[in-house]
Amino acid sequence: MTKILTKHFDEATLHELATYERLGGYQGLKKALAMAPADVTAEVVKSNLRGLGGAGFPTGAKWGTVPPTDKVPGPRYVVVNCDESEPGCFKDRVLVTRAPHQLIEGLLIAAHAVGARQTFIFIRGEYQNQYDVLARAVAEAAAAGHAKHASIDLMRGAGAYISGLDTALLETMEGKKAWPRQPPPFPTVAGLMGQPTVVNNVETLSMLPFILREGGEAFAKIGSAKNGGTVVFSVSGHVEKPGVYEVPMGTKLRDVLALAGGVRGGRKLKCVIPGGTSMPPLMEKDLDLALDFDAIRAAGTFLGAGGMIVLDETADAVEVAHNIERFLAHESCGQCTPCREGSFWNEEILHRMLHGKATAEDAPNLARIGENITGKVICALGDTVGMVTRAYLQRFPEDFKKRVSSNG
Ligand SMILES: Cc1cc2nc3c(=O)[nH]c(=O)nc-3n(C[C@H](O)[C@H](O)[C@H](O)COP(=O)(O)O)c2cc1C
Repeated sequence: MTKILTKHFDEATLHELATYERLGGYQGLKKALAMAPADVTAEVVKSNLRGLGGAGFPTGAKWGTVPPTDKVPGPRYVVVNCDESEPGCFKDRVLVTRAPHQLIEGLLIAAHAVGARQTFIFIRGEYQNQYDVLARAVAEAAAAGHAKHASIDLMRGAGAYISGLDTALLETMEGKKAWPRQPPPFPTVAGLMGQPTVVNNVETLSMLPFILREGGEAFAKIGSAKNGGTVVFSVSGHVEKPGVYEVPMGTKLRDVLALAGGVRGGRKLKCVIPGGTSMPPLMEKDLDLALDFDAIRAAGTFLGAGGMIVLDETADAVEVAHNIERFLAHESCGQCTPCREGSFWNEEILHRMLHGKATAEDAPNLARIGENITGKVICALGDTVGMVTRAYLQRFPEDFKKRVSSNG
């Protein structure tokens, strides 16, 4: 299968500049710097690259919303989102550890495209090793003269999942509490310190060296319609070979599972969470789904950040929902009442169900609580709080029915 980001992962010293350059590294940047910024963006539009941090927004179109300097004067920024806190996602960690220069080259290409002279890599605080690898690589790239047009600074998060959401990330960078902003304006218009700011995921930016080197059309051809290139899935859970797998957009779910060695111990599949725990699961009937942002959306869930969690027949939907809601209740920032209160009550009710104290009203109440959260909050974390339990209720009603005690 065609690989872009992980193609050279068998090179032990890929993280070093000399090896990366020997394999064609920084040629994409060289090409980009010889082009007008608008032409670089046009190439990315042609590539059909979609944001791989969760939302799947077309990257070229996003860059295109950065206003010209005569409309909004002052600095522009590019920020790498390396917060990676969605349970089930670990691909950015691997991409940064193994190929830090691929990301740095992509970041410098993006900076040229949007006219940013300052860039930042926001990295989750727990990623100490990745921080060290990146700091070394940034110093190497700067010493080699690759970063003459833009500076690169690293900033560390402090362990909050919500800081991965772009507007909360910008608040964190400004030294404030990580409360999501209510767009519009979107960060590309008013972001860091109120200036136009492009926030892109590690994987998204890492695709740019290939796009500039080989051309947007070549990238688009690898993927499916409107979903260019490849996607890196973090596969975990009940599979024989958990790990990071890069496949072309549009690869069937069945084939991704096969790469990961199939369901553990030859057991029956229960479901597959496609994008990290915030996403409703896919079912066995979806095994032939050609995975890309649009196909997964049409199947009622999201590709998200590709954190694929496989659950076999031994998994219990109430336990899974409780696990996820407990995480979300802990991570809710508390700004919106429906999310703050709803996540608490979801966890409380699911906890009761797990401990033999469920009543007949609990399942309908969970559905009702969910309906009163999704779409009534500022950010997608809140939407998730209202969506996840309902998704498990709808797909596995028998697991919830089993929990209602005789006194219910
Ligand atoms: C609760 C929450 C957490 C998020 N965490 C991350 C993250 O860790 N990394 C990331 O790239 N995007 C994360 N996102 C998505 C970002 O808000 C944003 O869409 C993304 O960084 C844009 O980059 P892209 O266009 O390259 O995908 C998160 C979104 C939400 C709602």
